[in-house]
Order: sequence, then structure tokens, then C-alpha cells
Amino acid sequence: MAGNKTFTMIKPDAVKAGHIGAILAKINEAGFRIVAMKLTKLSTEKAGEFYEVHKERPFYGELVDFMSSGPIVAAVLEKDNAVEDFRTLIGATNPAEAAPGTIRALFAKSIGENAVHGADSDENAAREASFHFAATEMF
Ligand code: TYD
Repeated sequence: MAGNKTFTMIKPDAVKAGHIGAILAKINEAGFRIVAMKLTKLSTEKAGEFYEVHKERPFYGELVDFMSSGPIVAAVLEKDNAVEDFRTLIGATNPAEAAPGTIRALFAKSIGENAVHGADSDENAAREASFHFAATEMF
């Protein structure tokens, strides 16, 4: 059965460009409830740990540098079928392929600097949420 929580980050490109408010509005309009949220910055070490699954991929170094290049917004979101519905809301990894109206189509610059992260499974959503938030910070 699909879970009801997902984990997201508004990435450094979108924070720098001033899109936090617009992206949160899309998230709320799509029916997600924010259950945890913070503006924070990942160290290179933390970004490397977060994206450990991509360690062998050619873009890993660039991804870690980019994700630690500036502040991000980390959040846990709640909705029925959260993981899948959020992936639909953000659109394809490459903004050039993202469906019109999706967050990446609207705000992402490139496949590397693509505005938002969305967990890709219930298991990863739980792991990523606890990577950023203590149980007492999730409401
Ligand atoms: P991935 O998990 O494939 O995509 P998604 O974020 O849509 O789940 O990749 C993780 C991140 O790695 C992606 O958001 C941006 C970066 N990335 C690149 O920089 N280049 C690439 O070719 C790919 C596939 C991803």
C-alpha cells in the first residue's frame, strides 16, 4: 500500500532565484500538507551521504558540489499516495522533458540544476526525512 509521506528539497538554484514561495504555493495547491520544513545548507560531506546511491554515476561529483553550493529548503509532505503524486507534480528529471505546468518545467534550469528533489519510494522518503529531521520536528 502506498504511504502518505514524501520528502522534498527546494534546491540551491531555485532558492537563489527566489522561487521558494512560488514552489511552496504549487505544493499547497496540489493538496500536500507540510509536516516539517527548514531552510538549511548541506556540507559537501552531508550532500555526499544523502546522494550515496548515485556514487558510481558520472554526475555524482557535480551533484554533490551543486547541492552543497547554497541554502536549500528541506521538507516532509503529507498526502495520500504522496511519493507518486509528488513525482508527478515535479515532472521529469530533465526540465526539457518535464510536462507543462510541473515544478521543474516552470522553475528548473537544467538536468543538473533542476529546482526540486522528490523521494522516489516510501522507503527512501522515510530515510531522507530522518536524515534531515528529528522525530520531534515532524508534525
Ligand atoms: P535521479 O535520481 O536520476 O533523478 P530524480 O531527481 O528525478 O529522482 O538523479 C538525481 C539527481 O542527480 C537529479 O535530480 C539531478 C542529478 N542528475 C544529473 O545531474 N545528471 C543526470 O544525468 C541525472 C540523471 C541526474
